Amino acid sequence: MAKNKFGSKLGVVMAAAGSAVGLGNVWRFPYLAGENGGGAFLLVYIICVLVIGIPVMMSEFVIGRRGSGNAVGAMRSLSGGRKWDWLGAICILCSILILAFYLVVTGWCVKFFLLSLFGAAPADWINTLIALGLNVLILGLGVEKGIEKVSTVLMPLLLVLLVMLVVRSLTLPNSGEGIRFLFEPDFTKITTDVWLAALSQSFFTLSLGMGCMLTYASYMKKEQNLWSTAAQVASIDTLVAILAGVAVFPAVFSLGFSPTEGPQLVFDVLPEVFHSMPGGSVFGVLFFLLLLIAAVTSAISIQEIQVAYLNEQHQMSRSKALVWTTAVAFALAMLCSLSLDGSLSIGGRGLFDWFDYLTSKFLMPLSAIGFVLYLGWFYPTEESRDEIKQGSEGREWLFQTWLWTIRTVVPAGIFIIFLHGLGVF
Ligand code: PFF
Repeated sequence: MAKNKFGSKLGVVMAAAGSAVGLGNVWRFPYLAGENGGGAFLLVYIICVLVIGIPVMMSEFVIGRRGSGNAVGAMRSLSGGRKWDWLGAICILCSILILAFYLVVTGWCVKFFLLSLFGAAPADWINTLIALGLNVLILGLGVEKGIEKVSTVLMPLLLVLLVMLVVRSLTLPNSGEGIRFLFEPDFTKITTDVWLAALSQSFFTLSLGMGCMLTYASYMKKEQNLWSTAAQVASIDTLVAILAGVAVFPAVFSLGFSPTEGPQLVFDVLPEVFHSMPGGSVFGVLFFLLLLIAAVTSAISIQEIQVAYLNEQHQMSRSKALVWTTAVAFALAMLCSLSLDGSLSIGGRGLFDWFDYLTSKFLMPLSAIGFVLYLGWFYPTEESRDEIKQGSEGREWLFQTWLWTIRTVVPAGIFIIFLHGLGVF
């Protein structure tokens, strides 16, 4: 069976940016930045993306394209054995847990989109089912005709919607107050916790640490320049996060709402904001469409990790793999959703929060550390160099910098997240 491949270079960037740009950018980044020192947080976050995010993304690219396979298969092909199976297995497990709660929130995006459009929406479980249905539809079309084509259409649309919302928000009276809230640097707020929040956010938002970029890289051709792909994906992702903040806060402040609502900001406060804004009904539809596009192009990439694994390691057809992964995702998403009203809690924490906690504090950092340590210390340097040089000319200094970073700074940085997760400090 011929390996699935993406068709064009632009398509690869759109698909990977589609995965990166998601709820993490539009829902999570704005309130994190607002609460944690505005411009100062932005600076810390950009440092995390440059120093840790991009090197880890490059590592996933190298492993995925060199190993030409899913998280388990690529590690087996590079290491020539099963010693690193645990790393692939963590990625698959992580993707199952993240997909469960990600789908719940994607279901909310469906709900609010329908509400803003028709004034009514079905029950929550049906919204989750619709979100999954969109995933199945896109993934069912395959890698090139599904993931790549759909992302190539939807990502530019997302940017257009975002710019329209930014213009609307900035032209409201007193929009400066929101801009100040988002950008005015308050360095006194930069504590260790804030550094760690920025680091976790950079992982989640760049879709790292669960074999997602690795799986997409297995579909890249040798002509694809890995450096410029990583740089473009990280830039688009950061730009969208900042613009999302600019679309949200000036409107929130201008219409007299409170910005300190944390995660509820988007789903509780924004509908009210749109309600009281001139032309708000139209902008409400546009905003929730934008959120839905961002969520769906990410959700497909999470499910693709599992589909590729079943398809390549267990010789299951893509359609059969889709059926299985969809059934598991739906069951777990329903349990997560039920846990939100306080039931199904273990040790005082609901299932939704458990999945989020386990993946962001342990599984994602663990697999990222595994990838960089493997490439940095176990895999022949010559092979990595050769892989990175395919599709990009020379630049030995860049390669050396990357190698040094993934051997030292990245593992150390991630190890600190671990210790923090374990409550050591
Ligand atoms: N990057 C996505 C976001 O910011 O919402 C979430 C995500 C997608 C995380 C894919 C991990 C992943 F593999």
